[in-house]
Amino acid sequence: MTIEIHKVTANIGARVEGVDLTRPLDQETSTALREALNVHKALVFDAEGLDDAGQQAFVRHFGDITTAHPTVSAVDGAPNVLPVDSEGGRAANHWHTDVTFVLNPPQATSLRSITVPPYGGETLIASSAAAYRNLPEPLRSLADTLWAEHTNDYDYAVPEEDVDEEQAARRAQFTSIKYRTVHPVVRVHPLTGERGLFIGGFAQRIVGLSPGESRKILDLLQAYVTRPENVLRHRWSPNQLVLFDNRITQHYAVDNYDGRPRRLHRVTVAGDIPVGIEGKESYAIEGDASHYSPLAA
Ligand SMILES: [Fe+2]
Repeated sequence: MTIEIHKVTANIGARVEGVDLTRPLDQETSTALREALNVHKALVFDAEGLDDAGQQAFVRHFGDITTAHPTVSAVDGAPNVLPVDSEGGRAANHWHTDVTFVLNPPQATSLRSITVPPYGGETLIASSAAAYRNLPEPLRSLADTLWAEHTNDYDYAVPEEDVDEEQAARRAQFTSIKYRTVHPVVRVHPLTGERGLFIGGFAQRIVGLSPGESRKILDLLQAYVTRPENVLRHRWSPNQLVLFDNRITQHYAVDNYDGRPRRLHRVTVAGDIPVGIEGKESYAIEGDASHYSPLAA
């Protein structure tokens, strides 16, 4: 079989054909896939016949895997698999990069479709590299100097009075360990040297600015990430696997399927400590995530 890579949009996304995910990859294929991930940021595979064990085995070609989540429970009997389930009500309809509140967030995320709603339920994936390239020079110079504090402990835009008991319990679990980490707003990709805006929903404050000032700057930069031209809108079929580079993308699960069943399984690849354009590394203020993720070299 020869591997075929079909670009989906100019800035992000490719469909991969000719790779059987249920079998171990040879070195050549795994190198080609890493190269494709570097270029396209998000890869879509046919994953017919793949189960949890197979998803983990495939993802391990990209590095060590993390446990399911620093605070949220795994799939029963599969400690490295996070259920992404509409029934669990854990809505991800906000732009974010996975787990950026820890010191070394996952370098890549895989999502495998198990139950797909009859309509809607797309995953949007945005290139933060394209966003950075789009910035006008004065904004790029500003972004280059900024550092942002990321945390799992903030109000998810849900008014207090709308939070029911179940949501409150989920939130208590999500924040059972409080994390605060400072990352560069402009992250340099360790494999490509490419620069990307590293913000997303967990970035809550710009170091040195007030919460109000921070919000304005973050919103201004975020608008470049979510430009339609920078976004892949992936409409799921059953038995697909999407692998995206969590170092240089953000994503959003569209809540447009009327609460119909939707279930994906997520497995993430352990990441490195982010580095800014001057070579300075991120640093943790609060929360130890060593039980969650090994540190990638
Ligand atoms: Fe996510």
